[in-house]
Amino acid sequence: MKKKYALAALGLAGIVALAGCGGGGAGSSGGSGAEGSGDKGDLLIGVSMPTQTSERWIADGNAVQDGLEEAGYQVDLQYAGDDIPTQGQQIDQMITKGADLLVIAAIDGTALSSQLDAAAAANIPVISYDRLIRDSEHVDFYVTFDNYKVGVQQATSLLTGLGVLDEDGKETGEKGPFNIELFAGSLDDNNAHFFWQGAMDTLQPFIDDGVLAVPSGQTDIEQAAILRWQQETAQKRMEDLLTSTYAGGTKLDGVLSPYDGLSRGIITALQGTGGLGPAIADGLPIVTGQDAEIGSVALIDQGVQFASIFKDTRKLAEQSVVVAQAILEGEEPEANDTETYDNGVKVVPSYLLQSDIVYKDNITPLLVDSGYWTQAEVDSGVAE
Ligand code: GAL
Repeated sequence: MKKKYALAALGLAGIVALAGCGGGGAGSSGGSGAEGSGDKGDLLIGVSMPTQTSERWIADGNAVQDGLEEAGYQVDLQYAGDDIPTQGQQIDQMITKGADLLVIAAIDGTALSSQLDAAAAANIPVISYDRLIRDSEHVDFYVTFDNYKVGVQQATSLLTGLGVLDEDGKETGEKGPFNIELFAGSLDDNNAHFFWQGAMDTLQPFIDDGVLAVPSGQTDIEQAAILRWQQETAQKRMEDLLTSTYAGGTKLDGVLSPYDGLSRGIITALQGTGGLGPAIADGLPIVTGQDAEIGSVALIDQGVQFASIFKDTRKLAEQSVVVAQAILEGEEPEANDTETYDNGVKVVPSYLLQSDIVYKDNITPLLVDSGYWTQAEVDSGVAE
């Protein structure tokens, strides 16, 4: 991480230096073709990220910026503080500044139609980053992970933690019944629906067989959803569930959580019962997650959170750079999925990356050996 931040800082210095030279880069972008071989340094790429409250998006933003700058482009990176109008304004400004391409991770996937219309009118291609932008034909490409599979992996990690599946994913014959509760992400994020679908397709047969039960009865995504993926909202919902459903002595065995931020809110709520609640008399329930955020990786290492899903944001950033470069050079970017991601207007050609389940015993090979987190960070739970 240190290296990334150092690079990002250097990049920033570079941009400042260029800006100091009269800001000709953006203004001259329209004429870059006239300069023959196309000086990439004249091309400006706007990168719009949702929020800095989650480390994952900071890492994404830094990695995309570093990759694009290494490839020779100028970058305007903006975070929108999870505020939809702010993201719209930031993208409008990128268009006004003469951006040559936009990379966007939307807050609300349905809220950017007018920005995308403006981008199309100015011939600015748009790459949808991690989250699909919906309801617009002006999405040129989508780089993401196999989001349905992420949901399957989340459910698999829950079933593994409960002992219903073994390490190889085979059914152990364990009949439970286990009591679980279900959480989903923000309904305006297309990904939340894919994660939920993958997870529920995996859990439903066990619910039907009586191996799993959801004592609250809250099994619809609308009931389980957490707006804007907020940790505090998840904590509050878990507290409410404990009060409404578990106060009388019912035991809670597991919680499906689709994102580490939510998982930490859920764990805080569970720990708030002070270990005295009957719901968690035998210790904390199995709690899943996603993103391998350092706070959660440390909790997994300590045996508090059970699992997460590692989506290597470095690879996603790298892929977005490859796609941006192809588009700007007039080539067709390589897609490995041209069927799954219908945004309501068209099927967006996509490049999907693969993810891995993080358990306590594979933190080292998956996250430390690959340089994603250092051992010191895993020990402290804080990104350096
Ligand atoms: C999703 C993303 C997840 C997680 C979540 C909350 O769109 O795919 O990895 O980061 O947002 O930020």
